[in-house]
Amino acid sequence: GRRLAVLTSGGDAQGMNAAVRAVVRTALALDAEVYMVTEGYQGIVDGGDGICRVGWDDVGSILHRGGTIIGTFRSRDFRERQGRRRAARNLVEHGIDRLIVIGGDGSLSGLDAFREEWPDLLAELVESGDLSKEQAQEHSMLMGAGVVGSIDNDLVGADTTIGADSALHRIVDALDDLSSTAASHQRTFVVEVMGRHCGYLALNAAVAGVCDYVLIPETPPGPQWVDRMCAELTRGRNAGRRESIVLVAEGVHDAQGEPITAHDVQGVLKERLGEDARVTILGHVQRGGSPSAFDRWMSTWLGHEAALAALGAEPGDQLPVVCERNGRVGRLPLVDAVRATREVPEAIEVGDVEKATSLRGDT
Ligand code: F6P
Repeated sequence: GRRLAVLTSGGDAQGMNAAVRAVVRTALALDAEVYMVTEGYQGIVDGGDGICRVGWDDVGSILHRGGTIIGTFRSRDFRERQGRRRAARNLVEHGIDRLIVIGGDGSLSGLDAFREEWPDLLAELVESGDLSKEQAQEHSMLMGAGVVGSIDNDLVGADTTIGADSALHRIVDALDDLSSTAASHQRTFVVEVMGRHCGYLALNAAVAGVCDYVLIPETPPGPQWVDRMCAELTRGRNAGRRESIVLVAEGVHDAQGEPITAHDVQGVLKERLGEDARVTILGHVQRGGSPSAFDRWMSTWLGHEAALAALGAEPGDQLPVVCERNGRVGRLPLVDAVRATREVPEAIEVGDVEKATSLRGDT
């Protein structure tokens, strides 16, 4: 029978549990044997209890829980060939040759590299006597699928990623909370939000929440950003606004490529406007807590589709990444999606937004 393993990797995101649950239950319904891997790729590198067979009830009551119950890890061992060789051996020893990875773009490209190397790794394992020829022949190719789990919403081609909606809710709630204390003191708050190289969370929080000025990496603030920000804040004060909020995406750089931090903005406000602004770095609160309703159902849908893709795959098939696009769940070629994601900053800088947002393959 077909044996499938699922793991979560990279930063956790609200909704990962819903995706894991859907993978497990869909695969069981399709008569596959299902395994959950703990602590991301490290679980397959270490083997043993890190790879455990699961049934329907093992994923009960997790849909609404934040984080990932199977743990996640940024595995150094898996980045080394030797680690990947151990991982291949451990999977084949369990008879597993289908793998679903829920994680960010780094975790997904790791899956693709693993798939590419798989035949060579197995050949080495046969040579060293760690696997029999029959085992290697029976599992000659690695199949599977990726699902983007990251609050950053940074996969080109996907409209959203697991956790982004919940994180946005956290940020907007925090902005609502900060605005009352800010208004009481007629203060400015500089709020740093996550997103790595992507300004999605900052920009959408700026639109959905209280915000006077936002700095995001996709449109690097030009030489006039300080003047423009100060003018905007002054205009608000003159109009009678008691609270001011500046949002800073953590990945923002100025036109010269120098990072702009929330504390830099605080310094500018002191110097230019004499304001005693406060800095709030929202940090991991954004990744915490239970998933929003959207993240629960969307992740369920993505996990279901990933299980269908992984179980329907034939040896030698390219890996798909399962994602939501134009309101539908579908599949994109994983390698292309990751490559396009990494090209984005350059594409946007040259103004070629079309290139950054279009992707070969369709849903
Ligand atoms: O990719 C998700 C993310 O939360 C980013 O927004 C942030 O830059 C990073 O992970 C933080 O990583 P860590 O949890 O290792 O501090």
